[in-house]
Amino acid sequence: MQIHETAFVVSTYRSYFEEISKDIYAKLWNNEATDALIPNILESISKDEAILHSLRNRFFYERMISFFTENNGGTLINFGSGFSMYQFLINDNVSTIEIDQKDIIEYKKERIDDWINQGKLPRREIRYTAIDFNQSTEEEIIDTLQPLIKKRPVFILVEGVLFFLTSKTTDKLFRVFNRLQNQGGLVGSVSYLPEVKETSVYNRLLHYFDSNNNTNDSFNHQTITNSFYKNIEGYLLEEHIDEFELAKIYAPDNIIKSKTDILNENMYILRKS
Ligand SMILES: C[S@@+](CC[C@H](N)C(=O)[O-])C[C@H]1O[C@@H](n2cnc3c(N)ncnc32)[C@H](O)[C@@H]1O
Repeated sequence: MQIHETAFVVSTYRSYFEEISKDIYAKLWNNEATDALIPNILESISKDEAILHSLRNRFFYERMISFFTENNGGTLINFGSGFSMYQFLINDNVSTIEIDQKDIIEYKKERIDDWINQGKLPRREIRYTAIDFNQSTEEEIIDTLQPLIKKRPVFILVEGVLFFLTSKTTDKLFRVFNRLQNQGGLVGSVSYLPEVKETSVYNRLLHYFDSNNNTNDSFNHQTITNSFYKNIEGYLLEEHIDEFELAKIYAPDNIIKSKTDILNENMYILRKS
């Protein structure tokens, strides 16, 4: 599976549980090639993947709504935005900067512009930027993004991306976040804890990637400790919750018996100090 296919897959997951994800536009991205991949993923890795990704989306959706309501707008910068649609779901006084690899970002802009012109999506202020986080330097990323920030405060999201990156690239991104935000800005981040490596479900995920990688698309399999988030320069860890706990809040009818049976991702909210 190529990295861009993962963006289609998680978007399709959100469309399966609209009432949980609150992403009423995710289904616009649904397509036959992705539909054909999903049954095998759910069967060979875990049947809960779709609902877990919808819970993750719901968590950040709620945090963004609160943040932008409290601050009467601002800017959302979505690092590795894939086919996320928060910009159409949250307050209309928010500007969004979408960042991803060139092929994804160009395709996304083209489709979104069409859908806005056809009245399928509301108009929003959106800027699209192609950046490869591995290739670009800290200065290059700052120089590209700084002039695009027209409204403050800034909410930065890095969702479903750190797994694919090295710790060196991750450290670079957090230095970038620190330089882009003013005091009070928030970062929302998602990652796996190192202990997930002991679970069979995680090993099934790695096996799936290995056995379905027909393009030799190489990427890392990063896990991150809680202490990493407690020690990021310029930030205070404000909130930490995992998908197992989120299910109790937003999907109480879908009881998940054990944390170790699922690909239990951790969500973090950091405040710039
Ligand atoms: C699993 S998708 C998640 C997309 C979106 N954030 C979401 O949650 O729906 C991972 C995204 O990270 C992007 N990505 C991975 N590595 C990247 C890199 N080195 N530079 C820029 N984007 C990257 C991929 O292109 C893809 O869109």
